[in-house]
Amino acid sequence: MPSRAAAAASGRIEVLGNHTDYNGGLVLVAPTPLRVEVAGERSDDGRIRLHSERLGRSVEVERETFDPLTGEDTWANYFLGAVEAMEQLGVVFSGLDVRISGDLPLGAGLASSAALGVATVRFLAALHGVEIAPRDVATIVQAAENDFAGVPCGPLDPLSCASLPDGASWAFLDFGPRETEIELLPAPAGLRLLVFDSGARHDLAAGDYARRRSECEAAAAAFGVAKLGALTLGAFEQKVTEIDPLLARRAWHIVTENARVGFVRGVLRNAIPPAMLGEYLGLSHLSSLDYFENSSPEQDHLVEHLMLLPGVLGARLTGGGFGGAVLALVEEAVVDSVTEKAEVPRIV
Ligand code: GLA
Repeated sequence: MPSRAAAAASGRIEVLGNHTDYNGGLVLVAPTPLRVEVAGERSDDGRIRLHSERLGRSVEVERETFDPLTGEDTWANYFLGAVEAMEQLGVVFSGLDVRISGDLPLGAGLASSAALGVATVRFLAALHGVEIAPRDVATIVQAAENDFAGVPCGPLDPLSCASLPDGASWAFLDFGPRETEIELLPAPAGLRLLVFDSGARHDLAAGDYARRRSECEAAAAAFGVAKLGALTLGAFEQKVTEIDPLLARRAWHIVTENARVGFVRGVLRNAIPPAMLGEYLGLSHLSSLDYFENSSPEQDHLVEHLMLLPGVLGARLTGGGFGGAVLALVEEAVVDSVTEKAEVPRIV
């Protein structure tokens, strides 16, 4: 078994399909070359030492007794959660000395936490001399995020970070009971995805995300389906007058967002000219704003601002929401001018 190892994982761009993943729905994602790197070696002293170059912070815990960290050290939980999950699979080390680096920005809506989890699982597997299939990596990482880090995120980010091939293709993911393979789709020619930081803080552990999850569960129960991804438009219309208006709004977002993803997938796989892609991104944002209520004033302002710039086809919030990133689909020729006029930092 090697004494040192290094591994990496890339983030993902959520192109369309907001909060549909844990509802058993549809999502379109694209890879980003920005990544997290985990490198280090075993040690014999029963301690795990972790240094984040990006944050300039270090933590040290006892291997036998560590618990989730709190306050400014919570970033380390995505690593420690993966260590604990791998221990349950028999991948155990006496101690570890590890450095985390890379260019994927943290908490910016590009799945940095899941990418750290995936890079950690790959690193531990390499150090132990075992191979783990991408879907299993995703399952381990989601369990680590949910159970150890205490963040109730869905399957989208772990699966994307563990499975998306590098390159220009977009991917269609179906989280419904059909359990389909990832379907690669050609990215629309002549267009680019840009991601901007709205400046508003995004923290999935803050409670808003968890609240939306439970509202979706309550809405599914009220409509009589296992998950909102299974709710048809007809079934929605039949029951909506009996449903609490807030739950109906949440359900409407999921039903229509799935329809939008299905439409765009059809456009891409059948090579129909992508004339309306931008409109679907814009509609997704309005649905997040009005029905799912997971936008923020900073993101709304940025979306409106970007949509008015020449060559921008559409824009929407991307990722968990409540602050964080905004995505824009733009013509290649205007990438530089849009970047300049956006008035906020561009991340991708
Ligand atoms: C976060 C979560 C994902 C997904 C998105 C919203 O990125 O980690 O599981 O729910 O928000 O689509």
